[in-house]
Amino acid sequence: MLDDATLDALGLQALAARRRAYAPYSHFLVGAALLCDDGAVIEGCNVENASYGLCICAERTAVAAAVAQGRRHFRAVAIATASTPPATPCGMCRQVLAEFTPPNGDIDILLVNDAGARVRTTLRALFPGIFDMAQLQSGQSPASTTEPAR
Ligand code: THU
Repeated sequence: MLDDATLDALGLQALAARRRAYAPYSHFLVGAALLCDDGAVIEGCNVENASYGLCICAERTAVAAAVAQGRRHFRAVAIATASTPPATPCGMCRQVLAEFTPPNGDIDILLVNDAGARVRTTLRALFPGIFDMAQLQSGQSPASTTEPAR
């Protein structure tokens, strides 16, 4: 469990990242700050597109940036919105964060808003019953039994 002061500092970084969100369609600006095991903080914001289905959430831009930098071990993520109470991560982002949550570990989550509200939780509290690599591997059919598309 991360101490409150560190998590609060992460919340401020998420609020700063939120100001860089590109959300001309939803007008719903989101910032994320991901604390990695090595102490690095990687920020993300939502990036929308005229083709709505291509919009990407703040949490996932942060995870993708961290992985691209060689960082795969995360301790905490702060997520900033203007919602009251502060908004929770969507299901897709929970699953993406779950990919990087060790089997016996967890990721601390701080939800913040620009009015100063703070809600502390964890990925496993928000997302019980994670579908993970172990479940996938234990249910995979041999390659020889699966048909290629062509
Ligand atoms: N959004 C996020 O960035 N994170 C979430 O967890 C929920 C939704 C973004 C996607 C879209 O740009 C906007 O918020 C409205 O859904």
